Amino acid sequence: MLSDVVDVLACPHCHRACSTTRSGLRCEEGHHFDVARQGYVSLLTGRHSGHGGDTAGMVADRADFLTAGHYAPIRDLVATAAGSAVEPGRDGTCVVEVGAGTGYYLAGVLDRLAGSRGVAVDVSRYAARRAARCHPRAGAVVADAWAGLPVRDHAVDLVLDVFAPRNPAEMRRVLAADGVLLVVTPEDHHLAELVGPLGLVGVDSRKQERMDDQLGAHFRLVEREQVEFGLALGHADVRRLVGMGPSAHHVQEVEVSSWLAGRPEVVAVTGAVALSVYHPR
Ligand SMILES: C[S@@+](CC[C@H](N)C(=O)[O-])C[C@H]1O[C@@H](n2cnc3c(N)ncnc32)[C@H](O)[C@@H]1O
Ligand SMILES: [Zn+2]
Repeated sequence: MLSDVVDVLACPHCHRACSTTRSGLRCEEGHHFDVARQGYVSLLTGRHSGHGGDTAGMVADRADFLTAGHYAPIRDLVATAAGSAVEPGRDGTCVVEVGAGTGYYLAGVLDRLAGSRGVAVDVSRYAARRAARCHPRAGAVVADAWAGLPVRDHAVDLVLDVFAPRNPAEMRRVLAADGVLLVVTPEDHHLAELVGPLGLVGVDSRKQERMDDQLGAHFRLVEREQVEFGLALGHADVRRLVGMGPSAHHVQEVEVSSWLAGRPEVVAVTGAVALSVYHPR
């Protein structure tokens, strides 16, 4: 719930601490933010980039796809790394997931870290609606990572970023000096059996190098683990996978249907991701 994490939130206007009121949150300067009926709070400001993030349809497809367990190996990978990064029994530690979507990975991490609470940050209010219910110790906030994270300086022990945008300076600012950043990125052959035939957005082979460069001023790479796993996808799962990703905007439904028409009922697909562990500089 939001009340579990309000002490780590910062007002997006004046960056002061927030506390809960009867209808929402209020900062020390008096800026007020309503909590939505679904339990999340929007801390968007006028400075936000205008990008609304994932649409309702994309979020629904993502929720169904993840609930079916196809990305459970990624969730396990992230939770195990979180267990090494943060002492599991330590009370009051805080995890922030940037671009959290439905909060699927944050919930997995909070299950592993008994004493922790978590903040799911996403610019999409449809995502925040789901993330608000992802775990009893999580709160969901709508915010644009490019405009800044509405989180207090050095208040966070672990930042997660799974297939989501990265704002290195902000991720560094919110992390404690001994905090850890975990980033999951797709490898270049992730979903290869679908990317080529369906014209999905692929991964460029220099992605990891570019990420290390992008993060380098604020973070030091300490470990990188590559994981490959098999997905057995029914036709509805393939449609959801297309619908939940960046290809949702340009791949036509009819193309997906005609490709699936020539496939077996269950399509074998490769999942391949890298988990990178960074420490603040
Ligand atoms: C590919 S999805 C990944 C979601 C989640 N991490 C997962 O893997 O299930 C990217 C997410 O980042 C969010 N997003 C995009 N731009 C953002 C921004 N500027 N600030 C915060 N979130 C953003 C989208 O709304 C979407 O939920
Ligand atoms: Zn304020």
